[in-house]
Amino acid sequence: MRRVSNDAAALAGAFRARTGQQPAGVWAAPGRVNLIGEHTDYNDGYVMPFALAQRVLIAAAPRHDGSWSVTSLNNHSTEVFRAADLQPGMAGWQAYVAGVVWALQEAGHRLGGADLVLSSDVPTGAGLSSSAALECAVLAALADLNDLDIAGLERAKLARRAENAFVGAPTGLMDQAAATLCTAGHALFFDCRTDDAEQVRFDTASASLEILVLDTKTSHALVDSEYAARRASCEEAARILGVAALRDVTDLDSALERLPDPVIRRRVRHVVTENARVLEAVDVLRAGRIADLAPLLDASHASMRDDFEITVPQVDLAVEVAQACGALGPRMTGGGFGGCIIALVPAGDVERVAAEIARSFVDAGYGAPAHFTAVPSAGAGRLQ
Ligand code: GLA
Repeated sequence: MRRVSNDAAALAGAFRARTGQQPAGVWAAPGRVNLIGEHTDYNDGYVMPFALAQRVLIAAAPRHDGSWSVTSLNNHSTEVFRAADLQPGMAGWQAYVAGVVWALQEAGHRLGGADLVLSSDVPTGAGLSSSAALECAVLAALADLNDLDIAGLERAKLARRAENAFVGAPTGLMDQAAATLCTAGHALFFDCRTDDAEQVRFDTASASLEILVLDTKTSHALVDSEYAARRASCEEAARILGVAALRDVTDLDSALERLPDPVIRRRVRHVVTENARVLEAVDVLRAGRIADLAPLLDASHASMRDDFEITVPQVDLAVEVAQACGALGPRMTGGGFGGCIIALVPAGDVERVAAEIARSFVDAGYGAPAHFTAVPSAGAGRLQ
C-alpha cells in the first residue's frame, strides 16, 4: 500500500483534481485497537475497543449516472460499479465499498450514484480493522449524500452486514461498532447481546502510561479459515451445552465437564474467562486504576495463546520481550494469527521497548516490526 498524505484538505484537493468539482464533504472513520475481549463478540459477549487516530478519509459528491466511482489513493486505482454489479462475493478492495451500497439498498434505502476518493493511514492486514474503517467511512459519506437518517448503531450493523454477507467474512460486530461509536479519550464497553454501549474514560496520561501498538508484520495465510473454525467451535459448544451463545455459560466447570472434546473445552474456557476479564477491566477503568489492567491483559494473552490458540511465534515473542522491558499487560489485539500487540508502557519508554522487540526479531530471524503510540480517538463522522 502506498503511503499518502491523510488530511482532509489534501484529499479534497485530490478529489478536485480527479473529478473537476468540489467534494460535497469529507468523512472519516478510524481503525481500532481492542483493549480486551477477543473472539467474544460473536458469542454475544463483551468487548472493549478504542478508536485509533489512524483513519480512512473519503471525499465524495453525488453522481448522476447511477454508478459509483471509487478511487483509492493508496492503491492508485479507480473502480466503477453500477447497481447490477452488486453481487455478494465481489473480489478486491472495492467489495468493501460496494458491500455498503448493497447493504444500504437491501435495507430499503434509496441511493444515488457517487464519486468517492479515499485515502487511509490505517495499516492493512495488521488486525487494526482497516476494512471496518473503510466500510464505516463509506457509510457515513453515503448516508449524508443521500440524506439518510441512520443512527450510529444501525450504521455499524449495516457495515457489518456488508462484511458478512457481501464480502463474506463471518465476523462479529466489534470492529464496526468501534469505528462508529467510539469517542476520543475513551474505550467503548460494548455488550454484543444487548447493544448497550458505555464510553469508559481511558486517560493513560493520568497514569503516566502510553499505549504502544507494535505490528509484528506477520499475517497467516489461513486467517479466514481459522477464524471461521474458531467461530464454528464456539457455536458447536453452545449447541452441546444447550445455550443460545457462550455468553450464557455461568458455571464454567460444569460446562467443561459436559464437553467431551479437549479442543472445544479450551475454546469455551477462553471465551468464558475472557468475558469475565472484560467485566473486571471495565470496573478497573471506571475507577481510573489503569495500571491494574495489567494482570487482566496478561491473562487475556495467555488465554489466546494456550486456549484459543490464535497467536503466532512472532506475537508471543513480542509480548515476552515487552514484558521483560517493563511494559504492562502486553497482549495481541484483534482476530489473531499475526498482526499487532498492544502494551501499556511508562511514558517516554515506547521507543526503547519497541527497539528491544525489534532487536529480538532480528535475533530470531524475523522480519522487522513497525510501531506507533496509540491515541484513543473519535469514531466515524463528517470532517468538512
Ligand atoms: C476480528 C473480527 C471481530 C472480532 C475480532 C476478535 O477483528 O472482525 O468481529 O471477532 O476479530 O475479537
